[in-house]
This record gives sequence, structure tokens and C-alpha cells, in this order.
Amino acid sequence: MRRFQNRKALPGTLALLVALSGIIMCASGNLIAQSAPTEVAVPLPPMGWSSWNSFSNIVDSQIVMDQAKAMISSGMAKAGYQYVNIDEGWWIGDRDADGQFVVDPKAWPALATGERAGDMANIVRYIHGLGLKAGIYTDAGYAGCSMYPDLGPAYQHAGSEGHYEQDFLQFAKWGFDYVKVDWCGGDKEKLDPAVQYAEIARAIASAEAATGHTLYFSICEWGNNSPWTWAPNVGGVAADIWRTSGDIVAPIVPHHKFSGRLASFPGVLSNFDQGVHPEAEHTGFYNDPDMMVIGMPGLTDAQNRVHMSLWVISGAPLLVGADLTTLSATTLATLINPEALAIDQDSLGLQGVKVASYDDGLEVWSKALAKPGERAVLLLNRTGDAASIKVNWSDLGLVDASPATVKDVWSHKDLGSFNSSYSANVPSLDAVMVIVRGSERELTTYTPTAAGKPQSGADVQRDRPVSFTRVASHAQMARIRVAYTNPDKATRFAALRVNGRTATRIAFPSTGSNVGAIWVESLLDRTGAENELIFATICDPGPGIASIAVQ
Ligand code: GLA
Repeated sequence: MRRFQNRKALPGTLALLVALSGIIMCASGNLIAQSAPTEVAVPLPPMGWSSWNSFSNIVDSQIVMDQAKAMISSGMAKAGYQYVNIDEGWWIGDRDADGQFVVDPKAWPALATGERAGDMANIVRYIHGLGLKAGIYTDAGYAGCSMYPDLGPAYQHAGSEGHYEQDFLQFAKWGFDYVKVDWCGGDKEKLDPAVQYAEIARAIASAEAATGHTLYFSICEWGNNSPWTWAPNVGGVAADIWRTSGDIVAPIVPHHKFSGRLASFPGVLSNFDQGVHPEAEHTGFYNDPDMMVIGMPGLTDAQNRVHMSLWVISGAPLLVGADLTTLSATTLATLINPEALAIDQDSLGLQGVKVASYDDGLEVWSKALAKPGERAVLLLNRTGDAASIKVNWSDLGLVDASPATVKDVWSHKDLGSFNSSYSANVPSLDAVMVIVRGSERELTTYTPTAAGKPQSGADVQRDRPVSFTRVASHAQMARIRVAYTNPDKATRFAALRVNGRTATRIAFPSTGSNVGAIWVESLLDRTGAENELIFATICDPGPGIASIAVQ
């Protein structure tokens, strides 16, 4: 699961000033740090490849090695793709007398002298040898999805229930870096996903503690039970990403049954739409609209480009589902466009939101980027006709009166400087993606009110939550910077409840002795200055929340 670090150490004098202002805050109760807090780095969405879309349950060692090699030779690894993820089909449910996985030695042979066939550590060593990371897959139930075979035959027991501690320890011992946990068995047994995944999170945490090896934790229950409300920090330890929808495509494996299946553009749009939960995407937790189908049969080059635009504006995990050995030059260029990738991997870690829509299908989406005044903007035309779509600087939270420059992400062209808005012609079912660089509007800072009582010190949440009341309303999703202190090495957590809605759990990584800042997004939809944000400690001690600044 996630690990956090400080993005940058403050220079000595500034650090001292910030530390001093912290002392002032503790002493007087309602003064806040005057210096801008240091932004704290959060984990970025994962980038890599997954076997399911193109290899279904026929995945084996040779396929995985070929894909890993292609990730390097194509330049994808250099562009940032790193995970090579083995999905369903690597194990068909056999266990030995000790309950350990028994793996087909022919599908997973020895790859170097001294190795034993059927040992999954072999393929991990191979992947690591290329400088990449390795992912594996299981199910939360007794059965896994192989009870509903895609290419057949059916296997009934390929899940981890009853073996959580043992299986996740084995994954970590094999050296895997990433684990996706599916929900076919859990669904069949009508289990509660929040309960099962919490237990799995604890098993992962103890596997990590036993081996010193981190497992990135991907939850796959298809969004059926609103995982964005419980998956971040489930069970007191953090899940990293969670699926928000069903499968974007059923697997398409050349020369096998169903090889004529096609990926579909409406399917891409539908998964994108179901993945939009900006209040949950922050501090390293990500909505996962599924592996991408870019480069698979069924999509045109233009549709692949729109698909990539949708995933990056959403800050989604970028897991390629196509066969990397057969990518066209155009597909590859779409996947490794550095400006598109920079949008996805922006260090604020926030999700893009819809900031305007016109005429039932003409939409403006905006993702705030770390550099003040910068926005990634997607002009999306869902209609059957070409149309002009306009983005206003005011819709982006930028100063209306200041000119802003516009750069096209796909043509790499600087389009010039514009006053108050920019319009582009967008073909039917297509999109234009630009970077707008303007002037950030001032943030409004609020200090805690906590039922009218001033806060005093970093650990006040032990006794009562930290509240911000009378926060002004905003027409759209507001961006909120939370200034806090966490002198521990370990990440602290707090639940944020806005206007009485379901809380989201926020990670507060170490700030050392400085005041740090993380960002969240939320709808401040009560008119007047009637919005209320309450941070409650999840486990002692909580972060020392000093102030919020709303944009
Ligand atoms: C589910 C998941 C897919 C894939 C398959 C494997 O459908 O959603 O991503 O892992 O199972 O069977």
C-alpha cells in the first residue's frame, strides 16, 4: 500500500519561520501559519500493462516476458509505464496440503538455472531484471472469476477466501509489487466488500511487515457498492485504487474463441462517466475506470486519442490492455505523449471535473495542475455534429481579466494568448485537449471554528473534530488546500465530511516539523456562507489541521 514522502525540504530560514508560526498557533489558538505551506507529495496513478484484455485466461510466462520486453523496446517504460500485471488465468485453484498455491509448471517454467518450474518468483525476477514492476491477481471469495470462464474450462476455487494471510504473504515473498483483488467469489457469496477488502488490507499490511515488500492494492468490485466511499483507507490501512465500473471490454484474443469482439467508443465513454468521483480522488487514492482499450480492435486512431484524453483528465490509472508487441506507431504515440502523461501524473493528484456543458453533449472538463494558474482542459463533443465549444477562464477558476496562453496537447502547438475564453471546433464524438496557463484566483483562507472554540495544538482532534463553518459556496467543485502538521514518519488519516455528506478519508503524510499542504475537491453547494467541513480523526493522533484555503 501507499508510502508517502516530503516533496521538498524547506530552506533553513523558511523552515524556521514556518516552525515558529506553528508555535504561535499553538500558543494563541487562532493564528495560523502565514507562510505558504509546503505541498506534500502524494503517490501518483499507476502506469503499466495488464494481461486480461488481450490474453484472457491463456496468460503464461512467455506472453508476460514478450510484453515486458515490448514495454522496454517501444519506449513505454521510458515514458513512465512500469507495471506488468498478470490477471486471471495464472492459477486455476489448486493448493497443496499446506494450502499453498500450486501453479502449472509448464505455463510458468524455470527461466534461469537454479529456478524451479511452477515458482512465480521466476517471472517476477525476469520482470524486475528489466527494471519493471510485477503485478498479480486473485479474488476475495472462495471462487474467482474463472468459475465464469471466458475461454474455458471453468475452475471453481481460484479465490483467496480462507487464505488471505497466506496468499498475500506468498505474493510478497514471490516479490510481486501490485495485487488486484477481484470480486466474482465475493459477489456470488453475497459478502460485504467493505468487510472483505478490509480484511485483505490487513493481510497485505502484515505481508508487507513480514517481508518489507510493498504491495500496491487494487480493488476490483466494479463500483457496485460505491467503493469510493470506503476503499480509501479501508480498515485503517489504505487501498490504492478501486474500480468504478464493469469491464470496458470482454477479452479479444486473436485466433481464439471470440476473437471477433470489438472494443467500443460508447463503452469507453460509459466507463469514464462512471469513474467520476472527485471527492474521493486525492492524496494518492484513485478511481479506476478500468484498463484501457487503446490499440485494440474496434477503435479508430481518433477514438484512441479521445480515450487517452479522458483517462488523463480523470487522473486515472493508465493500464494498457492491448498487446504491446503489435502497437501501431500512432497508437504508441498516443500512449506516450509526454504532455498527456504529465496531466495524468500531475503531483496534485486530483480528478478532472466537468465545469461547463451546453446543448446536451458539449462539455468542458478541467483538471487543476500543480503549477498555479495551469489547467488541463478537455472540450468534449458527444453529439452527432461538429460544434464549437468554448471554455471561459472564469469556469476554470482563473482570473477572467488576465490573458491566458493555450497549448494543444495532441498537436503540441502553442495556440496563442487569449482574453477571458478560448473556443475550438470539435468534430462529432471527438475532443480537443489543451493546457491553459492563466492567473490563479486568490484562495480564501479559513481557520477552524470547532463549535465556536479555537483549536490549540496539533492533536486537538483527539478530543473533538476540527470544523470549518460558514465557508462560502461555489458554483462548481471547489479545490481546497488543507494546511496541517504531521511530525511523525507515518501517514496520519482523517475523515472529511462536507455538508453532512458521506465522509472521505484523507491521507496526511509526514510534514516533519513544517506545515504541509494537501489538496482535495468538494462540492460546497450550500448557498450563502453556510458550508461546513468537519475533519474527524480516524486513529490517534490525527493531523494537526491549521487552516483550509478554498479556491
Ligand atoms: C473481472 C474483472 C476484469 C478481469 C476479469 C478476469 O471481470 O473486472 O478486469 O480481471 O474479471 O476474469
